[in-house]
Amino acid sequence: MWHYIRRYVHLAVIAALFMVGEVLVDLFQPALMRQIVDNGVLGLNSGGVGDPGLILRVGVWMAFVVILGGACGSLNNVFTHMCCQSMGNDLRKDCFKKIMSFSFDQMDRFGAGSLITRVTNDVNQVSMLVGQFIRGVVRTGMLTFGSIVCLYRLSAVFGNIVLCALPFMLACLIICIRSATPLFSRLQAQLDKINDILQEDISGIRVVKACVREVYEKLRFGKANGALIKTQLKFLVIFSVMNPTINALMYIAVTVILLKGSVQVVEGAATPGMIMAAITYTTQLLQGVLMLVMIFQTISRGYASWKRVREVMDSEAMLRDGNFDGRTDVRGELEFRDVSFCYPGSQQPALRHIHLNVRSGETLAVIGPTGSGKSTLVNLILRFYDTTEGELLVDGVDVRRYRQTALRDKFGAALQKSELFSVSLRENIAWGVSGADGNAVANAAHTAQAASFVEASPQGYDTLVAERGANLSGGQKQRISIARAVLKPAEFLIFDDSSSALDLKTEAALYDALEAARPECTKILIAQRIATVRRADRIAVMDQGAIVGCGSHQELMESCPVYRDICYSQMGNEEEAL
Ligand SMILES: Nc1ncnc2c1ncn2[C@@H]1O[C@H](COP(=O)(O)OP(=O)(O)O)[C@@H](O)[C@H]1O
Ligand SMILES: [Mg+2]
Repeated sequence: MWHYIRRYVHLAVIAALFMVGEVLVDLFQPALMRQIVDNGVLGLNSGGVGDPGLILRVGVWMAFVVILGGACGSLNNVFTHMCCQSMGNDLRKDCFKKIMSFSFDQMDRFGAGSLITRVTNDVNQVSMLVGQFIRGVVRTGMLTFGSIVCLYRLSAVFGNIVLCALPFMLACLIICIRSATPLFSRLQAQLDKINDILQEDISGIRVVKACVREVYEKLRFGKANGALIKTQLKFLVIFSVMNPTINALMYIAVTVILLKGSVQVVEGAATPGMIMAAITYTTQLLQGVLMLVMIFQTISRGYASWKRVREVMDSEAMLRDGNFDGRTDVRGELEFRDVSFCYPGSQQPALRHIHLNVRSGETLAVIGPTGSGKSTLVNLILRFYDTTEGELLVDGVDVRRYRQTALRDKFGAALQKSELFSVSLRENIAWGVSGADGNAVANAAHTAQAASFVEASPQGYDTLVAERGANLSGGQKQRISIARAVLKPAEFLIFDDSSSALDLKTEAALYDALEAARPECTKILIAQRIATVRRADRIAVMDQGAIVGCGSHQELMESCPVYRDICYSQMGNEEEAL
């Protein structure tokens, strides 16, 4: 944590100095009060005659001191916040940067809900911990210690009375701390769970409604919320027992001071002003101890959060970045050499012994039943995961040797799930290419068959896309994603089931335009429809993670039963299929 605090330590020091000022004022006040009572009101020094002039003088002093204390308190607040907010800001930025560098298995391991809680809530807790540390530790330490010293200076008897009560208060504090500590981590984990559900239900609200799952989801949310409330209640019970116990102990001490004090006043060993000052010091001590409880709460909670933030920051990517910059003589060649792959944590291989060679400028189509491993193929090509066995070469170089950004720069990809961002259509298309001009964007949109609906939109290319593209149809989103891939001056184009929502006529126009616009590009088209894959130079057929056939439509019709089955199921009869 020091790494983050170091930059703002000067603010922390200034804040602590103002805090010292505030506490000194607090400790000085009872002495003034004693003067007013003993000398101003009771006139103990002047034979029992009060001194209104002294009351006024000391009163003005007190007012001045209170204002000074208030100013110190406010300035302490300002500097503490400047320090802990700046530190929290840095931590949040670093956390986000780290998450952006995560590989997919890291993402899956943490889960989106937990990552969001860690970047928002946990970072806030850490920043509160630092604030509480600066404010609380100085204040509590000085106030508790200072009150005891002042009490002893006032009267050793009063000091002894309070000192006797102190061990009982501390014992009470320790018991509560020990029973509350395990609850903090549980609280954060339960908050994760709530965020996970929220995230799933809000982004998937359409499916929830379509499947009439509102009641079920409400119950699921209610259960997670209930668990959180239960833990919070346990906290409440612990602290609602502790606070009055400490208070009671303190008031017992105050009562004993009053009893003993009244005897001493009669004996002439103490004055009423001294008793008043002693009571004020005792309540200040109580304030200090109670504040210790709050500090403990914030620090324990902040520390639990800090451990969770550290988990993110210390998480090591399974993918090691290479240092090859991607400049190759060959362009647009791809080769799978006996590649097998299991997803992390899964026993079932998603790909088995894949041998595949794609030549420069070739169009390779991949077809196969759902779950046969088509998208996994793309995940490996873009190095979202590393192969479990075998190697994958892009332009003759193993993908593990590339800098990941250099490798992905070679590809324009429209993935299976079209992700749009809440900016204009133009910015969505130009997402992967910084500084793309209007003409290039319009050309890409024309190729992707998106131009007509974009131009018909109220603000044309400046039309704003709603969150996750909610104001566009499935086919429109796919075409924007395709335009984004086409705009990128890449060696390879990969479409993972990206034209599945288009009608056959639009799809045919799309692939004709694509061939005309980017003839030099190596294209990998994953599709479910025979009509789509037929136009490719070669078709690879996948089944249960293996390539079970590769060749032209005619060759596969003769040699590949899986392909023939898909074909018959779509074309209806054998003559049409042939
Ligand atoms: N992130 C993942 N973790 C674990 N298994 C996965 C993951 N993604 C896909 N799979 C599994 O890998 C297999 C192939 O999936 P995929 O490549 O998406 O199929 P396709 O694109 O051909 O429909 C499936 O059995 C699927 O359950
Ligand atoms: Mg898929």
